[in-house]
This record gives sequence, structure tokens and C-alpha cells, in this order.
Amino acid sequence: MTIKKVGVIGCGLMGHGIAQVAAVSGHDVVALEADTGALEKGLGRIRRSLDKLVEKEKIAKDAADAAFGRIKGTGDTADLADCDLVVEAIVENIDIKKKLFAELGKTCKPETIFASNTSSFSVGVMGDASGRPERMVGLHFFNPVQLMKLVEVVRTENTAEDVFAEAKAFGEACGKVPVAAKDTPGFVVNRLLVPYLAEAIRMVERGDATPADVDAGMTLGCAHPMGPFTLLDYVGLDTTLFIMQGWRRDYPNEPLFEVPALLEQKVREGKLGRKTGEGFFKWDGDKRA
Ligand code: CAA
Ligand code: NAD
Repeated sequence: MTIKKVGVIGCGLMGHGIAQVAAVSGHDVVALEADTGALEKGLGRIRRSLDKLVEKEKIAKDAADAAFGRIKGTGDTADLADCDLVVEAIVENIDIKKKLFAELGKTCKPETIFASNTSSFSVGVMGDASGRPERMVGLHFFNPVQLMKLVEVVRTENTAEDVFAEAKAFGEACGKVPVAAKDTPGFVVNRLLVPYLAEAIRMVERGDATPADVDAGMTLGCAHPMGPFTLLDYVGLDTTLFIMQGWRRDYPNEPLFEVPALLEQKVREGKLGRKTGEGFFKWDGDKRA
């Protein structure tokens, strides 16, 4: 099978980018959202991103318009029934994801490949919930999907060889470099990145340095494109907290997975990062306020 029609569930920070790169690479895309407002917001983001890429001469206007035309928004899971691949990019909550995959297992044609963009949870658990564990993979894209070159392709102990190969080929078709990863917490990148972000927060909790100085340290001293606090605000403090809470629950004795109290506090206060206008920094749209 060659993947031609792709369903993307969730059109938020990650889902809109996945839908976009899939459409730009010639796939027909069905974008499923929880409600009309969220769908319109997600499609608006795709349009703005495509316009930006046209402005920067990264893509021709005709190609951008054609890609946008290949994306159909929906609120009905039944519209995913004949997709060759469905990529889930909803909230980082394993119970909600399991429920969704159980529904997809009953809705989609038997050949459909299921993929999750989860940052941290077991892909195998979602495969079991779908009732077809051999057709389940992880396709972990990076934020912003339009610009980041990596996709982790996660193979569970049940993923069929041809399913893994198809998912990898899809990632390549989307212009990404695939890295094969086992179904471990955080796969390759987040297993390193998330404990680093948490340690940066602990550094500020201890009063060792300010977020601005830690960021200056890592951008100017290590040539990272963003310091950890800018990156935390970019990823979303809610998503980072969900990742750490899930790991803490499943691996209570791993010190690297200890949840910083300051992260919990920020989320409690609704300071989720760029998406709410404030996290560790204040934001005016894409720019630091
Ligand atoms: N679509 C189209 N264009 C976009 C865009 C998008 N989604 N996002 C940014 N751009 C544009 C910008 O508007 C900008 O255009 P102008 O030059 O006209 O202003 C251009 O791309 C470059 O952006 P920046 O000026 O911000 O320049 P930059 O060189 O800093 O690049 C970046 C931006 C690629 C995001 C870079 O800052 C970067 O690599 N940051 C680190 C990102 C990162 O680490 N991501 C991983 C997060 S972790 C994760 O994803 C895993 C997980 O599970 C949590
Ligand atoms: P987000 O909150 O920006 O978007 C999630 C979207 O899913 C929302 O628009 C919401 O309305 C929608 N949604 C929720 N439940 C739904 C359902 N049952 N059906 C349809 N739509 C539903 O979150 P995000 O940052 O895009 O994260 C999505 C996933 O991608 C998470 O698993 C996250 O861990 C992972 N991820 C996030 C990042 C990041 O940098 N934020 C990077 C890589 C992977």
C-alpha cells in the first residue's frame, strides 16, 4: 500500500503542522477537530503558515493553494474510515488517547495504519486499545513541524515490518529525516530534552539564575536556537507537565522524572506559554513582550 489519504486528529500546535506537511507533499488530508471553533483556528494557522512560506519563496503560491485545497476539515470520526494513515495529535493524556484509538479501531478500514504523535506515552498501549496492535506506530514530529527536519518513527514489539516501512516512507515524503526509535518513555529526543528542561526549572527554583540568564547561557554558550525557557513556552507548559506527570506515575523511582513544583504552579495559574500570552516570559503573539 502507498499512503495517499491521511487523517490528522487534533489541529492544534502540532496537528495543524502535520496536516500541512502531509498536504504539501501531495496527500489528501482529513483534519478532525473536537469543535468547529478549534477547526477554524487550526485551518487559519495552516493558511498563515503557507502564506509565510510563499512570502519567503519556500513554496510557490499555486502549490500552497493546491495544498490548502487538499485539506478537508471535519468533526466526524466516520470521515476517517477510508484513510490509509491516521495520525493522532490530541492532548497528551493516555486515557483520552486510548478511548480515541478504540473508536478508530471500530471505524477505520482494516488496512488503515494508526500513528500517534505522543511526546511520551507508550505507543504499544494505544495499539492495544485500537484492537490492531500490529498496525500501530509512533510518528513523532517536532515543533514547528513545518521547519523541523526530524521525525521519530516508533516501533512497538507488535508493529508489523511493512507498517513501520510505510510510516517511515510517509515521514520521508513529508520532507523529514526519520530516526527509528523503540517504544520507551520519550523515545530518543524527549528522553534527553525533557529532563534538561526540568533541570533548568529547578535551577530557577533554587534561585541559581533567572530564566533570561539561563536562556542566554544556552543560546550564546551552546548555540542552541532557543534557551530552555523560551522552548518551554514554545512547547507549552501544560504539555510539558502532562509528559512529566505521566512518567512520574509510571516510573516513580526515576529522579530525572521528578516534576518541578514551579511547573505545576505555572500551569495552575493558566500560564501555559505562548499560547496564553505568558509562561516563563510574556508574549505578544510570536514575539517576547
Ligand atoms: N510556518 C512557516 N513559517 C514559520 C513557522 C511556521 N510554522 N514558524 C516560524 N516561521 C518563520 C518565521 O516567521 C520566520 O520568518 P521571518 O524571517 O520572515 O520572520 C522564519 O520562519 C524563521 O523564524 P525565526 O525568525 O523565529 O528564526 P529562527 O531561525 O529562530 O527559527 C525555529 C525558528 C526553527 C523555531 C528555531 O528557533 C528553532 O529551531 N527553535 C527550537 C525548536 C525546537 O527545539 N523544537 C523542538 C521542540 S520539542 C518537540 O517538538 C518534541 C516534543 O514532543 C515536545
Ligand atoms: P494542542 O493543545 O495545541 O492541540 C491539541 C488539539 O487537539 C486541540 O486543538 C484540541 O481541540 C484537539 N482535540 C483534543 N481532543 C480531541 C479529540 N478527541 N478529537 C479531535 N480533536 C481533539 O496540543 P499539541 O501541542 O499540538 O500536542 C498534541 C500532541 O502532540 C500531544 O500528544 C503532544 O504531547 C504532542 N507533541 C507536542 C509537541 C509540542 O511542542 N507542543 C511536540 C511534539 C509532540
